[in-house]
Amino acid sequence: IPQLLIDTDPGVDDALAIMMAHAHADIAALSVAAGNVGLGHTVRNARTLRDLLGATFPVFAGCATPLVRAPDEDAAFVHGMDGLGDVGFPEPKAAAEGEVAALALLRLTRERPGELTLVALAPLTNLALALRLDPTLPQRVKRLVVMGGAVTGHGNTGRIPAEFNIGFDPEAAHVVFEAFSRFDLVDWEATLRHGFDDAEFDAWLATGDQRAAFFGKVFRTARDYNAKHDRSGVVAADALAMAVAIDPSIVTRSEIRAVAVELDGRLTRGATVVDWANRLGRPAQARIVLEVDQARFAAMVRKALGVA
Ligand code: BDR
Ligand code: CA
Repeated sequence: IPQLLIDTDPGVDDALAIMMAHAHADIAALSVAAGNVGLGHTVRNARTLRDLLGATFPVFAGCATPLVRAPDEDAAFVHGMDGLGDVGFPEPKAAAEGEVAALALLRLTRERPGELTLVALAPLTNLALALRLDPTLPQRVKRLVVMGGAVTGHGNTGRIPAEFNIGFDPEAAHVVFEAFSRFDLVDWEATLRHGFDDAEFDAWLATGDQRAAFFGKVFRTARDYNAKHDRSGVVAADALAMAVAIDPSIVTRSEIRAVAVELDGRLTRGATVVDWANRLGRPAQARIVLEVDQARFAAMVRKALGVA
């Protein structure tokens, strides 16, 4: 059973991903980034999720800002002002650890070399900091799975080809993409191909256990947003990436390509540029996940929600 180090900015889809991790794997720790909402909220939400799951994994707070430039948007309009649907959960029980996330990532991978799968569900600030402090980090992780990017330019931010996690901290993504000679990339476009039907998903929420009830609540703001924008279906980017982290054999179609991050473009900063035709002859480091087994993905989500 996989041992996961999860870097996250909860976040509604992060919440579902963490529930999946708890149901199907061991969570070694959550390291928390700013992204969907500010760091104060994302750390608190990570602690709230730990209480919901009755778990004891440590939660480490990371960096409150991107490496270089202040972000020009967050994602509170989808996830709620507090990042978890503005439900008003009580103060979580235990505090976050005192150690900062980047140092915890380095320490945990030193204590358990080759054992931990790193799952990146947030802007890559914490991972980039850790890599700058210790460039040997990639040698000590079993795998890296990144939720990020829009491989043919259909992003989900105000800068059209940029996906949120990469667009929020492009320099950090650049550091990570240069440092790892192989990682799995689950992008926004794959997410859109792997949505769930609204009625099907509602039936899971209605028949699952307390985790389904929790998710039903936090999911409301995202639902309202979708309804307002005439979008149907449930898409959960981080849940898809988590499925790939838990069981890589779920991937049915992928391509290994060199991927770089645009750092300067006036309209394109934060875009992921894929060398599809290998014109630059650079080492291809990203296994781009194009398709997974949807039935197995659905089964993983159902179990995480406690659907019988
Ligand atoms: C990614 O951005 C965040 O809003 C989600 O939590 C996910 O990690 C999708 O682009
Ligand atoms: Ca996220």
